[in-house]
Amino acid sequence: MDGKSRTASGMRPTGPLHLGHYFGVLKNWIALQESTHAYFFVADWHALTSDFADTSGLRRNIAEMVKDWAGAGLDPEKCVIFRQSAVKEHGELSLLLSMITPVSWLTRNPAYKEQQQQISNKDLGNAGFLCYPVLMAADILTYMPREVPVGEDQLPHLELTREIARRFNALYGEIFPEPRALLTPAAKCPGLDGRKMSKSYGNGIFLSDSFADIEDKVRGMFTDQARMRRSDPGNPDVCNLFPYHVLLTEDPVREDIRLGCATAALGCVDCKKIFLARLRDFLAPLQERRAALERRQGAVEDILAAGNARARAFARGTLERAREKMGL
Ligand code: TRP
Repeated sequence: MDGKSRTASGMRPTGPLHLGHYFGVLKNWIALQESTHAYFFVADWHALTSDFADTSGLRRNIAEMVKDWAGAGLDPEKCVIFRQSAVKEHGELSLLLSMITPVSWLTRNPAYKEQQQQISNKDLGNAGFLCYPVLMAADILTYMPREVPVGEDQLPHLELTREIARRFNALYGEIFPEPRALLTPAAKCPGLDGRKMSKSYGNGIFLSDSFADIEDKVRGMFTDQARMRRSDPGNPDVCNLFPYHVLLTEDPVREDIRLGCATAALGCVDCKKIFLARLRDFLAPLQERRAALERRQGAVEDILAAGNARARAFARGTLERAREKMGL
């Protein structure tokens, strides 16, 4: 071994990735492909736990997700990019872990309760949705990673993963490490309307958006809502745009913007122009990489076929040990 630790993580293929995904999670993944043995998968089984009724977009979303990832800079030469459902070991381990997971752990999971309450347009009374965290524990533990790079919203699931690992180890003997969450250092990415950026709120800037669309979106973006007239001083700390300057605009330009806003020397229209230029510089290479991939026939299929095989090769070993420990 080369001394590098392992990491593993996944995303549900529910639609195009936006800036919140990039700065919240993907940026971490891109760094980890250099420093660890990283396994990143499209969680298509997890997508089915809530979107089982209409699966017509699933295949397309899987391919789009791989394009978004590769465009953003995940490199199939540096990490393992694969599809969850292509590695059946995740399913088998999930079944085995379900034997030792009390149902009460699942029903009291805060993420479960919250989603059951908040999502009213879908029926989430299915067993698959209840068992979401067991499958997620299996996804993770299959690769015995030290760290799992995720967004904050995944923390309750990860806590359950550790509890399940602990229980397995106590019952059958230590095989699973208890993986830690790895969060991206606080990247604030508000949506266009100031709420959290989310596809379901329709307030996102997507990595694959055309610049014409981005210009329209940014023009309508909320800034400091107390700043009514151009001559009013603004407050960058309550502006929805300024956090993006924190992410994309270098000092000393950013400090000039802060000062210009607070003294009314700089108006929101000009501030947005600076942001648009920065965003264009940031997104252009991502979109070029994505376009190059789209020009190569079968590129996505090739990436997944190679990644699936590498993931399976590792997963097989874990399942052999788990089965053996459980007396199968
Ligand atoms: N729950 C994650 C999401 O909503 C997806 C996911 C599935 C995952 N399995 C995982 C994330 C294992 C990290 C590790 O996007």
